[in-house]
This record gives sequence, C-alpha cells and structure tokens, in this order.
Amino acid sequence: MTDWITLQNDCMNCRKCALHETRHNVVFGVGNVHSPVLLIGEGPGEQEDLKGEPFVGPAGKLLDDMLELIDLDRTKVYIANIVKCRPPRNRDPQNQEQDACRPWLDAQIQLIQPKIIICLGRIAAMGLIKPDFKITREHGTWFDIDGRRYMAIYHPSALLRDPSKRPETFVDLREIRGEIRRICPEVYHG
Ligand code: URA
Repeated sequence: MTDWITLQNDCMNCRKCALHETRHNVVFGVGNVHSPVLLIGEGPGEQEDLKGEPFVGPAGKLLDDMLELIDLDRTKVYIANIVKCRPPRNRDPQNQEQDACRPWLDAQIQLIQPKIIICLGRIAAMGLIKPDFKITREHGTWFDIDGRRYMAIYHPSALLRDPSKRPETFVDLREIRGEIRRICPEVYHG
C-alpha cells in the first residue's frame, strides 16, 4: 500500500476526469490522519477550490460550529470529500466524476482506517452507504459496513438554506459524540 505523502502527491496531479481542467487546486483533505473519525463532504466549492482546503467557506464555518458543539475540532477528525476538484458552478458531481475520484477516497480510508465515517449530506451518503439513501428519512441512523460505523447528517449548506433542520442535526451530533465516546474515547482524551 502506498503511503500518505505519495498518495497526496499523486492525487495533486490527477487528470482522471474533466474537473481537472477547471480546478485551481485539488482539495485532498485536512485534519488528523490518525483520527478514527472521518467526515466526508460532497466536493469543493469556490473558496475551497481557491484555497485547496475543504470546508473553508460559509458551510465550513457552520461545520466548525457543529464540531465545537460536540467538543471536536479539525485537529481531532479528518475531513475529505467525495470529489477532490470543484464541479463548475457548484453543481452535483456527476457519477463518472465520483467514480473516477473514488480510488483516492478509498485509499484515504485504507490508510486512516477510521472506525466512524460521517457522511455530510446526500451525495456522500449515496456514494458511501447506499445508492438509494434518503437523507430526510435516514439521517442519524447508523449503518455497519465492512467493520465501520457510518452515519449521514444534513450537509452544512442544507442547514444554511433551511435552519429548521438544525434541531434534528443537533440530536444526530449528540448521538455521534456518544458513539465516539463509546468506541474511540481517545478522540476526546488524546
Ligand atoms: N461542501 C462540501 O461538500 N465540501 C467542501 O469541501 C465544501 C463545501
């Protein structure tokens, strides 16, 4: 298996789909590569593309607030995306783009070996949990896949658009905190 630095360097030079033609930066991920908790979003937006870092725009500010609510921050988790390059005009990443990018994420998962994977929004949940995932019905539910626990919560951008979803997300976040305390308490005590 390749090491993290090699993987990151290879990913930075990726030209496996057309998104490389319009990107400013590959957004590989950020955070603690030794964390048992991995958060996965959809794909970089404008500010992420310019900075080369996930969740640095308005949704990122809310994500930081959500993490803080459960005593986490970017040093305690790792954050990546389904696609590493910005889809033009922030459209959903197409299936062929997700498929082309998937080996990078799979390799990140193999190297990090997370116990808990949190999908931020529908696109990540459909890619990682099941293709027919229904975020309104199934957010907050744990799914056990290949020895890891997966949960999807609403994407921070969805919470910015529709604040009425925030109370449900608060419940989901508390559930996540409880599960981290149960199966990987070192995240809080490390
Ligand atoms: N939305 C995402 O899904 N990922 C980012 O990195 C930023 C916004």
